[in-house]
Order: sequence, then structure tokens, then C-alpha cells
Amino acid sequence: MVRETSLAAGDFILPLFLHEGSVDEPIESMPGCTRWSLAGLVKEAGEALALGIPAVVLFPAIDESLKTQGAEECFNPEGLIPRAINALKSAHPGLVVMTDIALDPYNSDGHDGLVVDGEIVNDETVRVLCHQAVSHAEAGADIISPSDMMDGRVGELREALDEHGHEKVSICSYTAKYASAYYGPFRGALGSAPKNGDKKTYQMDPANRREAVRELLLDEEEGADIVMVKPAGPYLDIISELREHTALPVAAYQVSGEYLMIKSAAKDGWLDEEKVMMESLIGIKRAGADIILTYFAKAAAQLLTQAR
Ligand code: PBG
Repeated sequence: MVRETSLAAGDFILPLFLHEGSVDEPIESMPGCTRWSLAGLVKEAGEALALGIPAVVLFPAIDESLKTQGAEECFNPEGLIPRAINALKSAHPGLVVMTDIALDPYNSDGHDGLVVDGEIVNDETVRVLCHQAVSHAEAGADIISPSDMMDGRVGELREALDEHGHEKVSICSYTAKYASAYYGPFRGALGSAPKNGDKKTYQMDPANRREAVRELLLDEEEGADIVMVKPAGPYLDIISELREHTALPVAAYQVSGEYLMIKSAAKDGWLDEEKVMMESLIGIKRAGADIILTYFAKAAAQLLTQAR
């Protein structure tokens, strides 16, 4: 009766990895996660939906042979992501399908933006991101989610979507995405680590809090529908900062490293996996997140259903 915060399956977005081919491969760097075939992806998303999880977000592992310096594969209408969106929306019309907008899985340099003479070129990148977003919208994506952290991309993406008749496609912006070491296992899952340098010229400095509010004001003005903080657990103050400063829904991404730390400690018998999982999620919710992206989505939803 006096509990202030509660979790529900409806709070979660399940991130799903996929690749070309017909085998579902376990991901070594993220125990319990899988690189799905299209058929496996459809089945997994169906199970999530049945548990009450309303949405999934897709991350593709792209064949090395398709990666280029211009990342052109990211807007191929026959590419892996458009085919996956299609398959998911035909099998589960009620599922919300969100896609990641960034170049790193497609870019031979492994960066979220195009690299020219060792520099990330912001505006040229944004033009490619617009093609990518439009191709996802054409395939039926409900939400596109720019994780690239280029400047001005939310406004440009909104304009490009509208121009192509996709006014109803929403934008979930990675508003405050920090240059974090917690992304390591994810880059292992996709083989998408940067070949040179790091992402500090476009992702945020973990030392900065006011800058997150500045990013929020820009994203709001540019037309974001949902604003996100990433990672989640080590950045609870940023989640609450955003919650205080906006009426938009706030999302938080419990990233691969946060997941792996709990999984590994539990595997060694040092932590109670279920309890720490639920505590980590309620903490993120309590800080002010309306929506949580988490690799634990299915496990947590299962527990919540049992508890009812
Ligand atoms: C890249 C992207 C990353 C994640 C989501 N999108 C990694 C990065 O920025 O290097 C990380 C997710 C996770 O660690 O779970 N566009």
C-alpha cells in the first residue's frame, strides 16, 4: 500500500540481436543472449509479447564483407533489418518494433559516424542516418532510435521521416549516451568495436551532468518523442535529472556490461541473480525512468507474472 514504485512487463523494451543465416547462436560475451536467425527472432519476440513486453529493439550483426567506409548497407531496403521488421510485423502486428539508428554495425571503421581522415564527420553522417531511418520506416518500424550521438540528428531525422510520409513513426533519442566502458560485451556480440580511437568525440563525458540537460533541451526542440539515458545503473542521477526537466517519457538502457556483471557474479554464486536483477530494475524505475531497455526483460516479466 505504501510502496512508491512498481515494475511491470509493460515498462520493458527487449533488445534483440540478429544475424544472417538460419542458426541461433549463443553470444559468448553475454550469457543468456542469442544472435537470432530471422525465424528465431520472430519466435523470441512472440514470447516476449506474450509475457506483456510491448516492444523490441533490433541490433544486427552484419557480415564483415558488407561493411564499407560509407556504411551503405545501412539503408539497403533488402538488408537484414528491413527484412526483420517485415517478418516481425507480419507475425506480431501488435508488437512495437524499434530500430537502432547508427552506422557502427555497417561501418568498416566501427564508428557510429563516417570517418574521414581520422575524424567523425557529423553532417555527412546525419545524411546517411536519414536514409537509414527512412528505409526502416518504409519496412514498417514504429520507432526509430538514434544511438549515434551526432549533433542535430533528431531534427534532421524528423524532417526526413515526414518528407517521406512517415509522420507517425516516433523518435526515441539516445539523449544522454555516455562514452562508457560498459558497452564492451555488446561490441563483442556484434563485432562492432571501433577499429581506431574511441567514441569520446561524440558520446558524453561520464563526468558531465549539466550537459545531459543541454542535450535534452536540444532533443525536445528537434522533436524527440522519448528521451533516453544510457547506461542506466551508474547514471541514475542523470535519469532523475531528465525526469525533472521534461514532460516527455524518459527511457533508460541497462546496457550489456550492467547485465554481464550481474550474470557473472550470479554464476559464481556470489549474488542472487533474480533479486539483484529486480533491485537493479526498480532502482532505474525509482530514479524516474518510464521505460527500461534491458536484456533481463523476459526474465523479469516472467517473475512479475508469477508474483501476480
Ligand atoms: C552503438 C550502440 C552501442 C550500444 C547500443 N548501440 C554501443 C556503442 O555505442 O559502442 C550498447 C548497448 C549495450 O552495451 O548493451 N550504436
